[in-house]
Amino acid sequence: MDKFVITGGTALRGEIAANGSKNSALPALAAALLTEEPVILHRVPRVRDIRTMERLLVDIGTGVEVDGQTVRLHTPKIVSPEAPYELVKTMRASSLVLGPLVARSGRARVSLPGGCAIGTRPINLHILGLEQLGATIHQSHGYIEAVAPEGLRGATVYFDRITVTGTEDLLMAAVLAKGETVLRNAAREPEVVDLADLLIKMGAKIEGAGTSTIRVQGVERLGGAEHTIIADRIEAGTFLVAGAITGGDLTVTECNPEHVGALVSKMQQAGIDVTQPDATSLRVRSTGRFRSVDMTTEEYPGFATDLQAQYMALMTQAEGIAIVVETIFENRFMHAPELARMGANIRIDGKQAMVAGPRSLTGAGVTASDLRASASLVLGALVAKGETVIDRVYHIDRGYEKIEAKLAAVGAKIHRAE
Ligand code: EPZ
Repeated sequence: MDKFVITGGTALRGEIAANGSKNSALPALAAALLTEEPVILHRVPRVRDIRTMERLLVDIGTGVEVDGQTVRLHTPKIVSPEAPYELVKTMRASSLVLGPLVARSGRARVSLPGGCAIGTRPINLHILGLEQLGATIHQSHGYIEAVAPEGLRGATVYFDRITVTGTEDLLMAAVLAKGETVLRNAAREPEVVDLADLLIKMGAKIEGAGTSTIRVQGVERLGGAEHTIIADRIEAGTFLVAGAITGGDLTVTECNPEHVGALVSKMQQAGIDVTQPDATSLRVRSTGRFRSVDMTTEEYPGFATDLQAQYMALMTQAEGIAIVVETIFENRFMHAPELARMGANIRIDGKQAMVAGPRSLTGAGVTASDLRASASLVLGALVAKGETVIDRVYHIDRGYEKIEAKLAAVGAKIHRAE
């Protein structure tokens, strides 16, 4: 198993480019199941979760050709409308094939995800929504089976709570349903908008993506399309924090500044200089001294839960006490005890963490527990005195492409060890 060895204390300087978004590319790959024509996606990050989704699609019947960050997908026929436990347990986003499979072939068999490092993460809202679109659903042996032999029909789906992949799954089901579907209390994340843009290029009729009410007029068939995935706002945000925590001068290029607005606003309140040199870049300049600012995670456009762990690492270096509240997932503070091993002063009470800073961190052996927790350990290590060894970096490889090479190019002392 790979490890990262990081020697902290170097300010990061220069330019670092954001990749295409993992969480946009995943539903875009699944959307290729909706048509028998080829779908070509550009700027698909070469991370582990994407490879897992590609494997799943191949099993289902999709021809997948990868050329750098361009992926050509072609599904003339659904061979096996199934997502097996072996894949779903490694990546919950596998459930994104549920909606497109039922819509295209009238049948899907998808494993229930089971437990997860950051919370229970059920998919009950995906299932309820599909039932409202006319699918019949049975659960047995850890799998849910959805059938709609006559096809899906449009309906109003009200999500009890906001769900990102649930909205995406239902959107992909609704585009081929008969009549109008209205998704209420829909997720407004940029990844939902990106998926809608792709589906519209494929011939879908969608209005309101990016708002909490999405209207879809079902069409009989969708065609092929070519689409470029949006920038990864979570990767971009992670790099901004890296620049700030190390007291550096770092410009994150090829990103969408609007999509990281909530983080930038918190950083500016903390006294960190963040500017926008052009439409697709953000520059962070920091002396390494800044103030604590409280933060609560929320659905977009609020502060992303996927940046909470990185923000907590930042607050270990801030002057004062920051209260960090996690409202999206019930168990997303696994990084806190690891940061504490490096010297951070963090107290957890339910959904709330109290981070008292600034504390000088020292290198230690730490273990990555999930994707974003791993990113926060990298950030802590970049500012810690001495050497940190981060174990189980396969978690970080799920969502960050060659993060060690990118950080090393702007001055970080980081390498991968087997
Ligand atoms: C997406 O997960 C992202 N994954 C996550 O990113 C992200 O943390 C999350 O949205 C929240 O922003 C992808 O886009 C592939 P949700 P998702 O359904 O869609 C509850 C990362 O690090 N819920 O919006 O699975 C759920 O338990 C990852 O890249 C139900 O109760 O999250 C959670 O508390 C991790 N029933 C809340 O809703 C359901 O049927 C929001 O989850 C669905 C969700």
